[in-house]
Amino acid sequence: MNYRRLGRSGLKVSELSLGSWVTYGNQVDTNAARECMAAAWDQGVNFFDNAEVYAAGKSEEIMGEALKKLAWPRIKVVISTKFFWGISDGPNEKNTLNRKYLMNAIDGSLKRLQMDYVDLVFCHRPDPNTPIEETAWAMHDMIVQGKALYWGTSEWSAAEIWAAHEIAARQHLHKPVMEQPQYNLFHRKRVESEYSRLYGDIGLGLTTWSPLASGLLTGKYRKGIPPDSRGALPRMGFLVEGLTDKTRNAVVGELETVAKELGCTLSQLAIAWCLKNPRVSTVITGASKVEQVKENMKALEVAHRLTGAAMDRIDNIVAGHDD
Ligand SMILES: NC(=O)c1ccc[n+]([C@@H]2O[C@H](COP(=O)([O-])OP(=O)(O)OC[C@H]3O[C@@H](n4cnc5c(N)ncnc54)[C@H](OP(=O)(O)O)[C@@H]3O)[C@@H](O)[C@H]2O)c1
Repeated sequence: MNYRRLGRSGLKVSELSLGSWVTYGNQVDTNAARECMAAAWDQGVNFFDNAEVYAAGKSEEIMGEALKKLAWPRIKVVISTKFFWGISDGPNEKNTLNRKYLMNAIDGSLKRLQMDYVDLVFCHRPDPNTPIEETAWAMHDMIVQGKALYWGTSEWSAAEIWAAHEIAARQHLHKPVMEQPQYNLFHRKRVESEYSRLYGDIGLGLTTWSPLASGLLTGKYRKGIPPDSRGALPRMGFLVEGLTDKTRNAVVGELETVAKELGCTLSQLAIAWCLKNPRVSTVITGASKVEQVKENMKALEVAHRLTGAAMDRIDNIVAGHDD
């Protein structure tokens, strides 16, 4: 495992990490979560991603319980959470990044995770109804209070990230250091184009999500929806159209030829492709089973075999199919 700097910060994160969206609390209980986290840890993973809204707080409880049993030294792990959607009803409890919600939300997350602090805290989406200045102050105060070490954003536009950085710089606040965007073979533009100036100008780090486009890039949706997959979960119905898209599944078929030539699986190829982008600090993988963690971690070796020529071939195959 290599460890990359999280943007301009000094924090080092494993280039592959593990997240808990959909899985913890829905498909994975505490024991299974502990096994998946241990399998990742055995391969050198030090960063585990979470969010308040995942399974309405249950995902944080499960990770907290699993971490307690695993008893890893706190200095060796990097844990995140994210805020925006909230887990209870009320004008100041959901779909907001206002100060009242954020200061309350961090306390709830720390309790569920059974931790004194989280390493990374993200504003899970932009909030057009709260001034960025108010959010930046709340995130700064969270850090000053010792409840989080670094703050960042998730799926904010380049302009919004720039504004947050400028406000923080002008007022001598802790600046946002990382963004968590979707990044995979079918979703590239934001990372590769929209954010391009932010890497050099403000030293933005990236913790990227859905490297397998929720499983589409494993090839398992080419013949419909497997009953034990994310696509079959009732609450994930919104993903079905994308997962079963005929054109994209045909592209996945073409990518399989490249994978076979490289002697790897489609999942490994797709994750290795994300790793090749030096702007990416860590690729957050997801898994509902230990076997998937083990398979996906081998993408680290595959990345070394992905030559410039192989990357060009992949580019040609996906050209025109990404958004
Ligand atoms: N900031 C955000 O807005 C945001 C949004 C989404 C995700 N995230 C973060 O990013 C993490 C990763 O996202 P993701 O879970 O969508 O990642 P992903 O890699 O696109 O999808 C992971 C899912 O694909 C399936 N899978 C994984 N490896 C496989 C393999 N080798 N063979 C077959 N199937 C395999 C599993 O689902 P099944 O077994 O159920 O099919 C697994 O849960 C999340 O856990 C979360 O921490 C953040």
